[in-house]
Amino acid sequence: MAKASETDNGGQSDIGAPYYCQECKRNHTKGKIYKEHLNFARFESKNEESIEIESESDELELEDQHSLEEEKDILTEMDEEEDQNEIEEDEDFDDEVLTLDSDKSVCVDAVKKLPGVGEATLKKLIKAGFSSLESIAYTPPSIIQEESGLGDKTTAKLIKASMDKLDIGFKSAEDVWEHRRNIARITTGSQELDNLFGGGIETGCVVEFFGEFRTGKTQLAHMLCVNVQLPREDGGLNGNALYIDTEGTFRPERIIQMAEGLDLDHKKILKNIVFGRAYNSDHQILLIKEATNLIKEKNIKLIIVDSLIGHFRSEYVGRGTLANRQQTINTHLHDLLRLTDIFPDLCIIVTNQVQSKPDVFYGNPTVAAGGNIVAHGSTIRVYLRKGKGEQRVAKMIDAPHLPEGEAVFSITENGITD
Ligand code: GTP
Ligand code: MG
Repeated sequence: MAKASETDNGGQSDIGAPYYCQECKRNHTKGKIYKEHLNFARFESKNEESIEIESESDELELEDQHSLEEEKDILTEMDEEEDQNEIEEDEDFDDEVLTLDSDKSVCVDAVKKLPGVGEATLKKLIKAGFSSLESIAYTPPSIIQEESGLGDKTTAKLIKASMDKLDIGFKSAEDVWEHRRNIARITTGSQELDNLFGGGIETGCVVEFFGEFRTGKTQLAHMLCVNVQLPREDGGLNGNALYIDTEGTFRPERIIQMAEGLDLDHKKILKNIVFGRAYNSDHQILLIKEATNLIKEKNIKLIIVDSLIGHFRSEYVGRGTLANRQQTINTHLHDLLRLTDIFPDLCIIVTNQVQSKPDVFYGNPTVAAGGNIVAHGSTIRVYLRKGKGEQRVAKMIDAPHLPEGEAVFSITENGITD
């Protein structure tokens, strides 16, 4: 694992500082995203679907190895495009560029139909992960520019055209209410805990579970990966899960126990959980950026990040790095929030550790790690603490529409119950 302790700057890593990555055996710069890391993150099961992803990433890698001349051509093309302040003419999309499966090609077709998008622009957008109208419309222009290499005018035009196509703008509160009334929810397995959330964990937002060790954060995350696969009438979303594990605590055997507890075919349940092990904070950020492409393709309805800031805490050491750390966490959280804008029926769960407040003598001396950045970034925040034996207590700390309250649930062999 490429941990901070293995960096050659003695753990004082900071944005721009060099470190040696044990995974891809070469020097990296802190704060940069490396495509090679994707290869370590893929779900290791031998099922067909994961092989599909592997081959797709191979395809992208192959593209990377295009001759220098070809790269030069693209760059000159870009310059010309910017100089002339105009977007290139519509051209037929070259089949050789990327072979896409049907779901993805529907999204790509929509991008291709945007005014002025030709082969070169489309290629750059897809390479940078912007293969749908939603991903273009909801991403800040600076990020699209930085990742795709397109110029500012082209980017602005693409965003405007995507927003127009998606009809993004003002709507009436009645429309918002209509949407919220029909919002989909995932059951936690405990009626009491579901009630705390107003009938299960809702989609379209980022939910943070924070608490001390062994309070059930990881167990809840496992249970939700099973429950999301249930049909809607049983409290699921009929969808799949993406589990980003930053601590190495994902256990398929617990998934099997939980699936069997619900009389489900555990092989199918396991197959429908896409697993990514994040080896460091850069890698974690990269996995979330990549998730945009997986969500539609794999029918992902739940994303777990367990835990959100563990890597950041261990990599950014010392007071001097605090501002950079908070800024990077903030951007990462916004990447997650953007996913809920792009995919409104997606639920995102992040877990968080607590840190002690040395100046508190009465009451709870612990507070969620990550400070105000994480507190403001997550939509719903729930504090977990230990109760008697298998019991755990969940306390609603912050939600835009739910009262503060508590619920008691249990962790059993079959997962989360009352
Ligand atoms: P950290 O990641 O260390 O911060 O803790 P966490 O909040 O993620 O804790 P986690 O969800 O891993 O909870 C671990 C606890 O779940 C264990 O201490 C057990 O009490 C309970 N647990 C795990 N597996 C089982 C099981 O098979 N049966 C029962 N009854 N309890 C279990
Ligand atoms: Mg855990």
